[in-house]
Amino acid sequence: MFKENLDAVTRLVGTPISFLAEISLQFKKLDSLFGNKYKQAVEKNDKIIAYLQNEISRHKQTIDYENEPRDFIDAYLQEMKRREKMNNLEEFTEKQLTIAAYDFFAAGLDTTATTCRAFILYILYYPEVQSKIHEEMDNIIGKEHIITTSDQVRLPYLTAAMQELQRVAVLMPMNIHHIVLEDVQMGKNKVPKGTIVIPQFQSVHQDPDIYPGKMPTIKYTTGLIRAPEPFKCRAIPRN
Ligand code: HEM
Repeated sequence: MFKENLDAVTRLVGTPISFLAEISLQFKKLDSLFGNKYKQAVEKNDKIIAYLQNEISRHKQTIDYENEPRDFIDAYLQEMKRREKMNNLEEFTEKQLTIAAYDFFAAGLDTTATTCRAFILYILYYPEVQSKIHEEMDNIIGKEHIITTSDQVRLPYLTAAMQELQRVAVLMPMNIHHIVLEDVQMGKNKVPKGTIVIPQFQSVHQDPDIYPGKMPTIKYTTGLIRAPEPFKCRAIPRN
């Protein structure tokens, strides 16, 4: 149920009318003309939120505050309790917990899986880069140690390769909405406070004046997140 709803929300919010409805109330009024895609997205979204809230309630009934957390929700609830005692909850609220849990799936799953797939594809195109990554990992990590996030600072070549992948692959072709908090002058253009803007990474990351040079021709399946074509399977199906 959770996966189906998540899949539906991802598909529905990627439709042009939902995208526009997020920008302005005026577009929301047009939703019914385009099959109520935005309305459906909101309804499915509410179901996911309700599911996560129910999951949090279940955790609260069975949690052992004194021992190792079973998962992220437990760890968050334990932190809330610790902060409550010090009267220092700050942003640690159940609402935040719900959204953070949601983020793992909605923001973190497909993005991370697609990045890994694209990375594999690119190092096949560039075997010399693959060799250097291998060499660095052999030298720094070796065969005994299990790699963790804290090793990243000791792996500058791998880190640079991953950052370069993010630049060239443009896995999110359409960025998320942002709002301008104060009047901004950009060259000859004034962007007034309150304007909704959608910055495009590609305009900078693939500006030929900044990054000259050829890139491999890789086909992508478009969607909310671009997936390199040889990989048909996805964490969240799109079709
Ligand atoms: C390689 C994997 C990922 C990619 C390519 C990616 C991509 C992006 C992009 C392009 C944005 C918009 C940034 C902007 O404001 O300009 C974004 C925002 C965000 N991402 Fe990710 N993301 C990834 C992993 C994750 C993970 C693992 C999480 C959480 C578990 C996450 C949570 C979020 C959240 C909460 C925002 C909104 C931040 C805000 O409020 O401004 N992302 N991500």
